[in-house]
This record gives sequence, C-alpha cells and structure tokens, in this order.
Amino acid sequence: MDIKSVGVIGAGQMGNGIAHVFAVAGFDVMMTDISQDALDQAMALIRRNLERQVSREKISREDMEAAMARITTTLKLPELGQTDLVIEAATERETVKSAIFEDLQPHLKPETILTSNTSSISITRLASRTDRPERFMGFHFMNPVPVMQLVELIRGIATDEATYKTLLGVVEKLGKTAASAEDFPAFIVNRILMPMINEAVYTLYEGVGSVRSIDESMKLGANHPMGPLELADFIGLDTCLAIMNVLHDGLADTKYRPCPLLTKYVEAGWLGRKTQRGFYDYRGEVPVPTR
Ligand SMILES: NC(=O)c1ccc[n+]([C@@H]2O[C@H](COP(=O)([O-])OP(=O)(O)OC[C@H]3O[C@@H](n4cnc5c(N)ncnc54)[C@H](O)[C@@H]3O)[C@@H](O)[C@H]2O)c1
Repeated sequence: MDIKSVGVIGAGQMGNGIAHVFAVAGFDVMMTDISQDALDQAMALIRRNLERQVSREKISREDMEAAMARITTTLKLPELGQTDLVIEAATERETVKSAIFEDLQPHLKPETILTSNTSSISITRLASRTDRPERFMGFHFMNPVPVMQLVELIRGIATDEATYKTLLGVVEKLGKTAASAEDFPAFIVNRILMPMINEAVYTLYEGVGSVRSIDESMKLGANHPMGPLELADFIGLDTCLAIMNVLHDGLADTKYRPCPLLTKYVEAGWLGRKTQRGFYDYRGEVPVPTR
C-alpha cells in the first residue's frame, strides 16, 4: 500500500516528534489531541525544532516551510479516519488507547493501517479489539524522534505480511532503521532499558548513591550519553512506571517490581522534564538534583 497521509493521535513529546519527521519526509500529517493547548504547544515546538535543523543546515528553509504546511491539527478524532496510516501516541495506558481505537474505528477507510507507538502494551491485545488485527502493528519510535535512528516494528499475532512490508517501506522513507521485535511486554529496547532505569531508582532509594553520583557513574563509568535518572526524567516518570507495571504484570517476575520511590514521584506529579520536576528540578537556570 502506498502511504501518503498519516494521522497522529496525541501531541505530546512523541506525537509532535512523529508529526515532525513524517512532514519532513513528505507525508501529509493530521495530528489530534484532547487538548488544544497540547496541539498549539506541539506546533510551536515542531517549528522550533525545524528552525534548529535549518540553522544546522540539515534542511533548507523552503523544506521547513513545506513541512510545516503539511501538518494540520484537529480536536476531532474522526477526521483522522481518512488517512492511510494512523499512529496512536497518546498516554501509555491501555484503557486510553483501546478507547481511542474504538472511537476511531467507525470512521476509518477499510484499507487504513492502525499502529500504536506504545512502549510496552501488547500489540496483539490492542489489535484484537479492532476490526483489523491483520492491519495493526506496533510502531515504536524513540525519543527524541527527529534525532533517534531506530524504529521498533512489532507484529501482533495476526499482523499480515503486507502491513509489515508497508511499514518497513515507510521507515525507509523516513531515513530511519527498523528493528523487528516479537510481541512480548516492552519489546526489545524497553525490556532492557527500563529495568536498568528502575534499578538506578532502587540505587537512589537504598542510599547507595545520590542522583548526581548515580548519573555520573553511568556516564563516565559505562559510557552512557545520559545518566539513567536524567534519562528517566526525559522519558517521563509516568511512562517509566507504566512500562515497569506492564513488565511486572506481563512477565510475573519480581525482578520487574517498580521501585516504590518511582511510584512516589509519580504520585507527587513529579513526572520529569514535562512537569519541570522529577529526579532533577528544572525550574531554575540549571537542573538541580532532588536527592
Ligand atoms: N516518552 C518517551 O520517551 C517515549 C518513547 C517511545 C514511546 N513512547 C510512548 O509514546 C506514547 C506517548 O508518550 P509521550 O511521552 O508522548 O506522552 P506525553 O504525556 O508527552 O503525551 C501524551 C499526549 O496524549 C494526549 N492524550 C491523552 N489521551 C488522549 C486521547 N484520548 N486522545 C488524544 N490524545 C490524548 C495527552 O493530552 C498528551 O498530549 C506512550 O504510549 C509512550 O509509552 C514514549
């Protein structure tokens, strides 16, 4: 199938990045959210990020304006029904995602491919609640989308070969690299990354190190470009906790038990950069560790 138009659901940090890369690659993009504020902020952020690409001579100003012109926003989910490919990038909660697909379904063209950018939730289960499990896939972009090279492609048990091949072609058109993962909790990247982040939070919780010493240790001692707590703030602590819960429930192994300190930060509404406070406090000039 030749994909020309893309619907993006959720204009948060992933949704705006996904809209950005598809628009630059020449696809028409329609982005929706439940919040007009989120849509406005996403469009402003896409413009800022494109400006940065122009100033670094990665794209021309004409390409930037053409990309901006390819993105439209709407608060009306049904309007995405006419697109060729839908990418759901709303909050990491299964009830939210299932409700979105249920509401969208009556408005979809028969051939539209449905995908979810979920970090961890079963693709087979999400797909089974739609009318097109054979044309449903996990389409997992990494954060920040314009920068990160990898896209994980996850087939549900019913996904057909044509859908998989279509998405492979789309990834190629985006200039990114696809890795295929089987449909098990958190797939490949987060199956490995999240337990490490969770262990870093345990290390903090048990007083083995401070926020700064843990991050410095992993940057300088393991050559990670970001410390695990800094990375957790970047991803969003609510998303990290949601993924750990999916791993814990799905694999029934205590090694995936979310650290109580992670739960506490999320309960406090300290979700990381997006709320200006997480393991670091971002409200001042420079991030200040909270512990
Ligand atoms: N943050 C990451 O590093 C990362 C990386 C890869 C994948 N993901 C996945 O991407 C998805 C989005 O994560 P995010 O970090 O962008 O979250 P976010 O909190 O930044 O944004 C989520 C957006 O979804 C919107 N939303 C909630 N319910 C909605 C609905 N019913 N309809 C439309 N919009 C709705 C919210 O208003 C918000 O703007 C999650 O599934 C997450 O697991 C996140």
